[in-house]
Amino acid sequence: MSAAFEFTLNGRPIAVAGVDPNTTLLAFLRARGLTGTKESCAEGECGACAVAVVVAHARGSRFQAVNSCLVLLPEVAGGEVWTVEGVCGGAPEDLHPVQRSLAEHNGSQCGYCTPGFVMSLFAGYYDTPRSEPRALLAGNLCRCTGYRPICEAAAALPAPTAGDVHVARLQRAAPGPTAVEYGAGGAHFHRPTTLEQALALRARHPDATLLAGGTDLVVEHNQEGRRHERVIALSAVAALRAIEDRADEFVVGATATWHDVLQRLGDRVPMLAQMVPLFASPLIRNRGTLGGNLTTASPVGDAAPVLLALDTNVEVASATARRTLPLREWFLGYRRTALQPDELLVAIRIPKVQPTASRFYKVSKRELDDISSVSAAVAVWQHGGRVTQARFAFGGVAATPVLASAAGAALVGRSLDAAALRDCQAAVRSAFTPIDDVRASAAYRAAMLESLLAKFWSEVAP
Ligand SMILES: Cc1cc2nc3c(=O)[nH]c(=O)nc-3n(C[C@H](O)[C@H](O)[C@H](O)COP(=O)(O)OP(=O)(O)OC[C@H]3O[C@@H](n4cnc5c(N)ncnc54)[C@H](O)[C@@H]3O)c2cc1C
Ligand code: FES
Ligand code: FES
Repeated sequence: MSAAFEFTLNGRPIAVAGVDPNTTLLAFLRARGLTGTKESCAEGECGACAVAVVVAHARGSRFQAVNSCLVLLPEVAGGEVWTVEGVCGGAPEDLHPVQRSLAEHNGSQCGYCTPGFVMSLFAGYYDTPRSEPRALLAGNLCRCTGYRPICEAAAALPAPTAGDVHVARLQRAAPGPTAVEYGAGGAHFHRPTTLEQALALRARHPDATLLAGGTDLVVEHNQEGRRHERVIALSAVAALRAIEDRADEFVVGATATWHDVLQRLGDRVPMLAQMVPLFASPLIRNRGTLGGNLTTASPVGDAAPVLLALDTNVEVASATARRTLPLREWFLGYRRTALQPDELLVAIRIPKVQPTASRFYKVSKRELDDISSVSAAVAVWQHGGRVTQARFAFGGVAATPVLASAAGAALVGRSLDAAALRDCQAAVRSAFTPIDDVRASAAYRAAMLESLLAKFWSEVAP
């Protein structure tokens, strides 16, 4: 186990030694005097801590903005990080185009949020095509300027010039994922690069904390001041990140990020194309993973209803065995899954045959960057005007995400008429007693179940 590692910070190599692996990248940067990167919520909600990392891309590499408050420091070992201090020449007249545009459009008042906006815009500035401002900035909050001038600044950005040093950087490859065996202050951080190594580590340390993107885990770590004695990070295992197009299914590695899932499957799986843009923010989607979402097993997680409705299987492995089970057998209770202590979730297998009509509905207080109060995934397969198969799955109505099997079965052989809708609503009403919590009352959730079904009918029925 090594007591040091290196990474590249604002274009210069730096060595890290003796820093507790539980330290976040944000805390490390600020302790080094790079206080442009701000801390506000420490739970991925505000984007004040945004930095850019360099990741692989077909044409060389690209910048990706991430929340540095949710990145454990050894995760950047061997990598390349840019902070707000590194994007310009350092002098007031030497602003980066995104900084100049924010200044010219009055996009900053107190300035606390501004470095985060700069870094989200900086990463998006070099993308082709660029995301539209509202989608790009969904993970950055501003309390005093108002979003209009900030979005105007984003919309007015020029194209990068050929002499831009960052353009030149992106023509080169991104640093490859490296193995890490790092320890300091009595805590250990392992980052294997093969599945065999990851499973062997899991067998040897069944009590270790597994880390994928950290967008659930590090939130708890920050909120509860939790310290992990041993972390096994899965982000460098290529086999776990791969997304494969097989004969009759898409096999999504458990640590494929939401960004990658949308890029690769957005035009193949319509419900993912509807759901992923509503999932958190680009900052979270750049690190958060599909497998992490299913293993957290939150009753309001967005992946589960979609994948239950698509009759997905999950594959788990230990050092000695592999097994595949239907996702409907995965959720055992509130935040409890069928995963054994020596196992990893390895892949999510989504059948390729897509429904004739499908919708994902998310009911939340804000349209973007919010957790669901209730969600519904409705999938119907039809032939000759008759339903051959139907699956309705819901989030936020019970201790686990749920599949309304009886309601789906009741629809087979029928057309999507008003009588069928009434019967489905009745079946769903008698199948669930929704939960009552701070996000929504049980009565509201029960009403939503029925009205989301009615919405589906109104959108897809002839
Ligand atoms: C601001 C914010 C907004 C969010 N918005 C949404 C939202 O809109 N919808 C939603 O559903 N969720 C949302 N989330 C929750 C979170 O982003 C997702 O659940 C995400 O997919 C988790 O993935 P991760 O890789 O970050 O998981 P991690 O935090 O790395 O891990 C989560 C858990 O899964 C375990 N784990 C991870 N991978 C594996 C594996 N391969 N095998 C075994 N165990 C594993 C970890 O040990 C941990 O217990 C949000 C979170 C934040 C902070
Ligand atoms: S400090 Fe708010 S997202 Fe990191
Ligand atoms: S400028 Fe003050 S919070 Fe955004």
